Amino acid sequence: MEFRVKRAPRIEAEMTVPGDKSISHRAVIIAALSNGVCVLRGFLPSEDCMRTVGALRALGIRIEQPEPEMLIVHGKRRLLTPPPGDIDCGNSGTTMRLLAGLLAGQSFDSRLVGSAALSKRPMERVMTPLRQMGANIVAEGPNDSAPLRITGTNLRGIEYDSPIASAQVKSAVLLAGLLAKGKTTVNEPSITRNHTELMLNYFLVRTVKEEDGGLSIFGDQTPESRDFTIPGDISSAAFWLVAAAAQPGGHLLVRDSGLNDTRTTLLGVLIRMGAQVREAVEDVDQIEPRGTVEITGASLKGTIIQGKEIPQVIDELPILAVAGALASGTTTIRHAEELRVKETDRIAAIAHNLRAMGAQVLELNDGLEIHGRGSLRGARVASFGDHRIAMAFAVAGLFADGETVVQDAQCVQESYPGFAKALDEIMNPKRARMTTPVISSLAPSRDDE
Ligand code: S3P
Repeated sequence: MEFRVKRAPRIEAEMTVPGDKSISHRAVIIAALSNGVCVLRGFLPSEDCMRTVGALRALGIRIEQPEPEMLIVHGKRRLLTPPPGDIDCGNSGTTMRLLAGLLAGQSFDSRLVGSAALSKRPMERVMTPLRQMGANIVAEGPNDSAPLRITGTNLRGIEYDSPIASAQVKSAVLLAGLLAKGKTTVNEPSITRNHTELMLNYFLVRTVKEEDGGLSIFGDQTPESRDFTIPGDISSAAFWLVAAAAQPGGHLLVRDSGLNDTRTTLLGVLIRMGAQVREAVEDVDQIEPRGTVEITGASLKGTIIQGKEIPQVIDELPILAVAGALASGTTTIRHAEELRVKETDRIAAIAHNLRAMGAQVLELNDGLEIHGRGSLRGARVASFGDHRIAMAFAVAGLFADGETVVQDAQCVQESYPGFAKALDEIMNPKRARMTTPVISSLAPSRDDE
């Protein structure tokens, strides 16, 4: 499958996006560990999240799916049963790393396998803390990569200072901590998405925020079964938010998006670049804030994205790099070496594709320097098998002269099954569907952070 993209007409649109990927993984895992039936709505039925569902089913959890976005999970009080064979995590790093934490403390053995691309990604980052907890994990691939052979054992709580700002590492340790004896504490070098701890708390598992910022969990707790509705994925909305932001006069409303502040840093970046953004949190009843984002486009200007912002925009960096290429001046991304170990080496992929589209880009070890020229030219670009590269460059095509073809675009199914349809609606709007006023004037307008 490929995307054929032409220049977008003026964007004046209102949309919702599918459920949040990170929250979907966590909701189904924690529901599976709970003491009863949990109905999950707004679940993201993408390839990655369905890998987690498949894994939990293989571990003896009954999960019904009466509608694509609805799961009925029959929690079994943390009792998982030995899988009939290898557990295939596909291309989903979140599935493999979170399950490693969950499986390390079981009374049976398991083996996690994945796609060729996932089998090249680093797993030492979860194996190190889990081994300190007593886990017995062997990486069968070169350089501590998958397949992972896990011999289940009793775990003990530890205090772990994570050298990497990674929500997947934190989550693997917290899930292992739930099964371990005593208290487990994770300290992270800078704040990452907090969905695991919020979801655990929602299911009435006690965690403690330590004075020095660490997060602790006490072992031997069973989550209380509850229903949960997953908000839209702001990392999916990001593609359209940037499209509207980069078009002077563009105007977009995304309703029912997740607005957890460990995930909304991209809005601050877009404000710095000149876009007008309003967000209105409409619901926090179910722990994860959700609401509406409204964005009005402008002639963007370059910015610097670095330091503590990086873990909070890690998945948005491909599309923010495209925004940089459309802006005037230089956009610099630093301290983002983690991009090199995502579904592909995203630094190299972004540089390669932006150059193919006529942008001037310098590849740095830990980021990119992009000299925006305000326009791009259509080209054939590669997805590199990476969903966020495919989607970012489809959006780049909306701003290019001529046609842009994004090859091997089927990978978007990993996180955003409806992307092709949304792209088509942006390119061929039927009519203005906007309802005004959009967000009441009482809603706080984000001025920069
Ligand atoms: C995720 C965490 C991030 C992110 C990934 C999803 C998660 O990875 O890039 O898409 O759901 O925990 P890292 O934790 O490796 O930074």
